[in-house]
Parts: sequence; C-alpha cells; structure tokens
Amino acid sequence: MQRFISSLPGFESKTRPVDRQIDIIATVVEFMSDKPNMPYTQAVIHEVQRHSNMIPMLGTHTNVEDIMVKGQNIPTGTMVFAQLWSILKNDSVFDESYKFNPNRYLQADGKTIDKAVLERTIPFSIGKRNCVGEGLARMELFLIFSALIQKYEFVPTAKIDLTPVWGAVLTAPPYTCQLIPQAA
Ligand code: HEM
Repeated sequence: MQRFISSLPGFESKTRPVDRQIDIIATVVEFMSDKPNMPYTQAVIHEVQRHSNMIPMLGTHTNVEDIMVKGQNIPTGTMVFAQLWSILKNDSVFDESYKFNPNRYLQADGKTIDKAVLERTIPFSIGKRNCVGEGLARMELFLIFSALIQKYEFVPTAKIDLTPVWGAVLTAPPYTCQLIPQAA
C-alpha cells in the first residue's frame, strides 16, 4: 500500500479529474460488487501494478520441453528467469510506458476496461506457477485502496521520490503524508 500511495502523483482529491470523482468518490465502496461501477479505480490499480511493479524478476523456473524464443532454442531443463519489470515496461501495447496513465486501461467511452491491454498486464505472472494468492490480493487491493482514498486525502509533506528501492521486492523510499479525513 505504501507503493500504491506513493505511485499516485496528482491523485490527491483536489487534482482528480472531475469526471473521475464520480467513480472514485461517489461510489461508496463496501463490497466487491461495487467494483464494476468503478472502472477508473480499477484502471488506477492496474496502472500502479504495471508502472510500479513490485516483483521485478521471478524466481527460477525450468522449461519442460525445448522452446524457441526469437530464433533461439532454449533446451529442456534450462534455468529461466522471467523479468516482469521488462515485460510491463517494454511490451508495445503500453504506449509511453514510463508514464503513469490509468486511461490506457479504458476504452474511448471512459467506462469499459480495455481487455487487450489488461491481459498483457501480468504483475502476478502467468501460467501454471503464477501467484496462488492473485484473487485474494486483487480483492484486498480494491477494497483497501478504495476505502483509503475515499476516506482520506493524502497530502505529501515533502516531494515524494518515486525511484524504486531495488531488491527481490521493490519498495518505495520512506515518505510521510498528512491524512485529511474527507466528509462522508
Ligand atoms: C499484490 C500482491 C501480490 C503480488 C504482486 C504477487 C505476485 C506474485 C508473483 C509475481 C509470483 C511468482 C509467480 C511465478 O513465479 O510465475 C507469486 C507467487 C506466489 N504467490 Fe503471490 N503476489 C501477491 C500476493 C500474494 C498473496 C496475498 C498470496 C497468498 C495469500 C500469495 C501467494 C503466492 C504463492 C504461494 C506463490 C508461489 C506459487 C508457485 O510457486 O506455484 N501472493 N506471487
């Protein structure tokens, strides 16, 4: 959640686009059934997970049959490391991938999630060994993140440094915020 809040430059309520306040503020989140009514909130969560991907490189995996990758044979039993960071930054489906832009997940109507972009967003990895906790994590991210940004305005007390602290799990440098309770 520290990374979520720090990854949201200009996301404090005063600078939220007005049409998006309807989604983020007006829908009081209590249940997962509120999620379909909050496409922009969903788009923000996807974009934080893409832009500030937490797990840059996976642990080792092994291919169980020979495969060709861009003309290179990878023989059975090779130790392979997937670089999620690279995929989430370099896949051509993400225009200007270093920019934080939740709108990339929305179609022109601003309400429908663009599935073609979403299916290339793989912070939980893909395949048989992908994250077992993906469903739980997605639920927690939606409920906790929405509740926090609805109940409080997060005002940084100094400029937030978005440079990731590298490690097995990426974190954000420490920062402090003032939390201003929002009127119900
Ligand atoms: C935002 C939160 C989370 C992210 C981004 C995340 C991401 C990942 C990633 C990238 C992998 C590696 C998959 C691979 O090697 O292909 C993984 C594995 C795993 N995750 Fe998560 N995860 C999250 C939350 C959780 C939660 C809440 C749980 C448990 C309740 C969980 C349980 C696991 C387990 C057990 C594995 C190992 C799966 C295997 O090796 O077969 N994760 N996760």
